[in-house]
Amino acid sequence: MMPHSDCPTDCNEECSSCTSNETLDPKERQRMQQKAEDDRLRARADRIKHKIFVMSGKGGVGKSTVATNLAIGMSMSGLETGIMDADIHGPNVPKMLNIEDERMTADDDGLFPIQVPPHLKVVSMAFLLAERDSPIIWRGPVKMGALKQFISDVNWGDLDYLVVDLPPGTGDEPLSIAQMLPEADGAIIVTTPQEVALLDARKSINFAKQLGLPVIGIVENMSGFVCPHCGEEIDLFSRGGGEKAAEEFGVPFLGRVPLDPKVVVSGDSGMPIILKDRDSLAAKAFDTIVDNIRNIVEG
Ligand SMILES: Nc1ncnc2c1ncn2[C@@H]1O[C@H](COP(=O)(O)OP(=O)(O)O)[C@@H](O)[C@H]1O
Ligand SMILES: [Mg+2]
Repeated sequence: MMPHSDCPTDCNEECSSCTSNETLDPKERQRMQQKAEDDRLRARADRIKHKIFVMSGKGGVGKSTVATNLAIGMSMSGLETGIMDADIHGPNVPKMLNIEDERMTADDDGLFPIQVPPHLKVVSMAFLLAERDSPIIWRGPVKMGALKQFISDVNWGDLDYLVVDLPPGTGDEPLSIAQMLPEADGAIIVTTPQEVALLDARKSINFAKQLGLPVIGIVENMSGFVCPHCGEEIDLFSRGGGEKAAEEFGVPFLGRVPLDPKVVVSGDSGMPIILKDRDSLAAKAFDTIVDNIRNIVEG
């Protein structure tokens, strides 16, 4: 009998795995491969204590900014932390951490996440692209396969927290990640304070509820703006809407992060504000949000 083309042991000759697999009908073989993948995913996921998803109804509200600052904040308090950039088409986390030129390597046990010392590990599609500006043109099932591999085939090791930065909306990615990790602690919903953004936040809350995913709470981003010239605070995008939505749905309000030009500059320069300017209102806001999340998740 010839060696099996998908031999799991890569034996290149006859072996018991491939000769026994060869006799199976294709459906049965596919079922076995699926089970092996699910078992790998479970084994990795069991070593991650807390999993939290950062979601929003639409793009541009600051999800990646929030996810990155929270992950850094957690790692700064000594927690072993991972951040999974699940935005396959627009992976921004590596740029925000100034590691976009890194590429993941692998051994027999899987891919190695990029390390940001001392306690942060990062996985992103950006680390697998040949060129920084290559677009990813993938259909749903391939994308979902990649996201699954971001857990099942990555050497995350033992983590206290995995923060997943999801693409916007209520589409396939959040749906399949929630199904892959049904034990997740829940979702953090990021919104800006205006009414239109709140409509989207409400959709995200309902989506999480339909998935049986607890809502850890709401973050109101770009909430209030302190004029750098006169120091007066103005409510550029209104204010308090995130808190109102939290009340309406009976979910925790985790905190508000002000609109601050320094957040943009720090994100673009690869050093998140929580590290770059510890005294800024935004850094303090992220500290408070990390504390609130830990109180809720760790009880
Ligand atoms: N609190 C804030 N103050 C000022 N700019 C912000 C703030 N939060 C996010 N931004 C900026 O808004 C833009 C979009 O943020 P990003 O995190 O990429 O959003 P998303 O992941 O939801 O698409 C980025 O340029 C980011 O620097
Ligand atoms: Mg993003």
